[in-house]
Amino acid sequence: MLDNQIKRGDLQPKNPYAFNGQTLVGNADEQVPTPGQKLFYIESYGCQMNFSDSEIVASILKSVNYHVTPDFQEADLILINTCSIREKAEETVRKRLKVFDQVKKARPDALVGVLGCMAERLKAQFLEEEKLVDLVVGPDAYRDLPGLIATAEDGDKGINVFLSREETYADINPVRLDSNGVTAFISIMRGCDNMCSFCVVPFTRGRERSRDPYSIVAEASDLASRGYREITLLGQNVDSYKWQNPEGSEKVNFAGLLQKVAEVDQEVRIRFSTSHPKDITDEVLETISSYSNICNYIHLPVQSGNSRVLKLMNRTYDRDWYRSKIERIYSIIPDCAISSDIIAGFCSETEEEHQDTLEMMEFANYSMSYMFIYSERPGTLAAKKYKDDIAEDIKKRRLSEIIRLQNHLSLKHNQGEIGQVREVLIEGNSKRSDDHFKGRTSQNKMVVFPKSEGLSPGDYVMVRIDEATSATLIGTITQSVESGVSI
Ligand code: SAH
Ligand code: SF4
Ligand code: F3S
Repeated sequence: MLDNQIKRGDLQPKNPYAFNGQTLVGNADEQVPTPGQKLFYIESYGCQMNFSDSEIVASILKSVNYHVTPDFQEADLILINTCSIREKAEETVRKRLKVFDQVKKARPDALVGVLGCMAERLKAQFLEEEKLVDLVVGPDAYRDLPGLIATAEDGDKGINVFLSREETYADINPVRLDSNGVTAFISIMRGCDNMCSFCVVPFTRGRERSRDPYSIVAEASDLASRGYREITLLGQNVDSYKWQNPEGSEKVNFAGLLQKVAEVDQEVRIRFSTSHPKDITDEVLETISSYSNICNYIHLPVQSGNSRVLKLMNRTYDRDWYRSKIERIYSIIPDCAISSDIIAGFCSETEEEHQDTLEMMEFANYSMSYMFIYSERPGTLAAKKYKDDIAEDIKKRRLSEIIRLQNHLSLKHNQGEIGQVREVLIEGNSKRSDDHFKGRTSQNKMVVFPKSEGLSPGDYVMVRIDEATSATLIGTITQSVESGVSI
């Protein structure tokens, strides 16, 4: 049954923006549907927010007697949670819909629904272009799914692409899909109020809104009590998290939220993603540094290392400002790993400006980066104002230079780990061998190491790093953290 599942590779960090979809399956304890339940299948593309949303969708569907299946061939309802970030992401979804069209032709009663960012971007146009699609539901309209499904069952099309200023799904307890039982995501905010000129997200996700911190803490406590040991707080720009109670007497910013969540359980690690460089404050950095269970890892996308390009991108910081932020991070959290997102070949970028990006990568000493070719998105500021004038072969060459440099930096970073003893949270079996566990260090580096008796996923172990590639560390357990006994 699990064959359909696309497993996360051990050896590659999971790209939160990857557009290779992931079939989401239920947890082992809920694999069997009860009589009378209908079956739904859900496949997710794009960022971690989308994966997290799929878990909210699963919860909403569970409440109306649907059970998740990993096999779309048997599903009554096939859902695809889509991404619009680059043209390729949308092309992948279109191809996938062709496969679901075949199911629909064989079983006309099966419903096909498109969720997420592409649904929001294209709205009713989607229904005109994809005749066999029954439902088009934007990211803020998932509560309406039961009603929309009923509409579609009556033979009409169900569409809701309303963007809300309030919706955070705070009261919905997500059904954990495809879970290893150790790591989980909690969505802390939705939308984005930044207007990076290249980016479609503000159009597909709407205005920024922060979720009640007490509902976040309650979700974290629930996860901790169920044995989860690592929580990633999710938002497009977590550092601009901002909440106040209706009376205005209590205000919580991101540093305050981090503190609250870190105090839920010392044994539960906290991560967060993504930080916009303009909003990450010293207060946040000091909070990270003062809690040992907040991981020493910051994803701080630079996009470009050149001030003119950054201005065109509307990132609101320049090269020097970003450099001083990097220095600040390393001075407050010396052991911090920093990763980035980089765009190659943005409108009018010159060779010298591209060189500035390479230089910035070296300066920041990124442990890892997600690297992309610029893809013009309809409706964005850049599409309206600037010409997408860098030839495809130049974009590709620049990207390959960026990738080559990052591989070199990652290897150097990882080689620097050799001989260190790191605390690793065991996530499960290594993909390559059942005799090995895999887990990550606080700095988010994947470590593979031979198993030792008595240890299982969710345990912390001390691992000495013996070897390194640019993507993985290979080590040996020296001690289980709880027992303190040398192995
Ligand atoms: N909110 C996050 C990013 C979300 S989108 C942040 O601001 O850091 C993830 C990444 O996709 C971006 O950081 C950017 O590097 C890339 N991206 C976004 N729009 C793009 C486009 N039009 N072309 C290429 N890459 C893009
Ligand atoms: Fe897009 Fe910028 Fe918002 Fe990130 S911060 S989601 S790149 S507009
Ligand atoms: Fe894609 Fe939407 Fe996320 S465009 S990257 S799924 S917010």
